[in-house]
Amino acid sequence: MDAPTTTSADNGTSGGGAGWFTPHTQPETTPGSEREASEGNRLAGMRPVGRTTADTETDQQRENAGQPVVTAPATDPYVPAQRSTSSAPPPAPAAPQTAVPARAEQASPDAVLIRRTMAEVAPVADKVTSYFYALLFVRHPDLRSLFPAAMDTQRDRLLKALLTAAEHVDNTPVLVDYLQNLGRGHRKYGTRPEHYAAVGECLIGALSKYASGVWHPEMEAAWVRTYTTISQVMIDAAAADELRAPAWWYAEIVAHDLRTRDVAVLTVRPNQPYPFLAGQYASVETPWWPRIWRHYSFASAPRHDGLLTFHVKAVPAGWVSNALVHRSRPGDILRLGPPAGSMTVDHTTDSGLLCLGGGTGIAPIRALVEDVAEHGERRPVEVFYGARTDHDLYDIDTMLRLQQTHPWLSVRAIIDQHAHLQLPDAIRQYGPWSGYDAYLSGPPGMIRNGVDALRNVGIPSERIRHDSVEELVGAGD
Ligand SMILES: Cc1cc2nc3c(=O)[nH]c(=O)nc-3n(C[C@H](O)[C@H](O)[C@H](O)COP(=O)(O)OP(=O)(O)OC[C@H]3O[C@@H](n4cnc5c(N)ncnc54)[C@H](O)[C@@H]3O)c2cc1C
Ligand code: HEM
Repeated sequence: MDAPTTTSADNGTSGGGAGWFTPHTQPETTPGSEREASEGNRLAGMRPVGRTTADTETDQQRENAGQPVVTAPATDPYVPAQRSTSSAPPPAPAAPQTAVPARAEQASPDAVLIRRTMAEVAPVADKVTSYFYALLFVRHPDLRSLFPAAMDTQRDRLLKALLTAAEHVDNTPVLVDYLQNLGRGHRKYGTRPEHYAAVGECLIGALSKYASGVWHPEMEAAWVRTYTTISQVMIDAAAADELRAPAWWYAEIVAHDLRTRDVAVLTVRPNQPYPFLAGQYASVETPWWPRIWRHYSFASAPRHDGLLTFHVKAVPAGWVSNALVHRSRPGDILRLGPPAGSMTVDHTTDSGLLCLGGGTGIAPIRALVEDVAEHGERRPVEVFYGARTDHDLYDIDTMLRLQQTHPWLSVRAIIDQHAHLQLPDAIRQYGPWSGYDAYLSGPPGMIRNGVDALRNVGIPSERIRHDSVEELVGAGD
């Protein structure tokens, strides 16, 4: 391996007197936190996201323009159209990436230098990632146990998020919201404040190697300042969260209902109260794939008995989904990360809800319906439930029962095989939708097409909510 070119704590140019990447504040150790941290070393994982259509649009535009789309991936962010005002769990992170494209004339000197680096390393992003992890694990072998044994599809998420956050360092409110959520989510990995220095040094090491053509001391100083700021926000948020919430929850499977050959409805009982909002999701780790976390949406609004429900579809060769659908049984214990996601109902308005759910994407839609019912509102809710075949409409009976109970709810099943009609096309035949907020959940193709269709029928982007597109591979078909 090439000798790392990173700087050390002695010669850093970082501002804060605490030195290179050293957090300014250290969280106080709370009772039990040491045990929790050491348990946390066994596992890893984090929370998810959603994005606004504005993000999707910008990514596509960049892709079309042949530019690399360096975005914090699925696990990250989107800017919620309207924030829920509920005081319960924190909303999902806002996207630092393309939500608010920074204009060159407004960029700070550090942001300019950071973007210069990004442009240089973008064509070799994969090499930067490999080198970053190689540096991290060679220099800090103790950190290896925090990460999954196999780091294939997800390994670029950390670095992408870092680079994206750095790129948007000028967009403070959006960035802080995102990073706070990220910091809280990192507690379940067993991440501690001192780990941030290690990651920062290896980040600079990898960047300085692959951006060597443009690298100079001022650029390095810009990265140090930026990384220090980013990591401090995460560290502070994690420390604050430690005072009020566990790093993760254990949850025992109490019911496992195989609804189709590849879809199971799992009901779990968390070991302590789990606060969340309808429309959100959790990261889930199974005992069979330690440190591998995947996101699953809550299929019910919060229940009085505290139980949580997930709808899981086993995807071909999928690790976690197959374990949950085909292997797990009542009595098995999962781990849950904190709730995340902004696809929640805004109870301060009386707008209608236009909901598109494809495959297991019906799960959070059902939770939203229950949420509206619970609040006693009589706002119109129109659900379009899409599937390839009748057989795949595994939850239609429940949805129809809800429709019978609630006069403000309308449920329409759209079966591709019969009508040769895609879910998004169907909404064009109904409406008008001007007084509606739109919610989409399902496979990425459905969300992309759905967003286009919704915009075409006049729903503005800021009134369209959905979870992150990139990670939704298993959410239905
Ligand atoms: C916010 C959110 C909510 C979700 N909610 C649900 C839900 O309620 N129910 C549900 O069943 N699923 C849901 N998902 C999808 C879920 O998180 C997992 O992605 C899915 O279960 C597959 O995980 P796995 O470990 O089984 O598959 P993996 O082992 O990750 O991969 C399975 C196969 O898919 C490929 N693959 C993996 N990721 C991608 C990708 N991003 N793009 C293209 N190919 C890929 C792999 O190469 C592999 O061949 C949600 C995802 C997100 C982001
Ligand atoms: C500013 C610093 C950091 C940023 C922006 C960042 C960002 C991310 C992101 C976006 C993910 C994807 C996880 C998900 O959303 O589910 C991730 C995963 C992870 N991060 Fe970080 N991270 C940072 C620092 C650290 C540090 C200091 C550690 C500890 C060594 C760490 C350990 C992990 C682990 C173990 C994972 C899981 C990896 C996996 O699932 O493959 N991160 N990080």
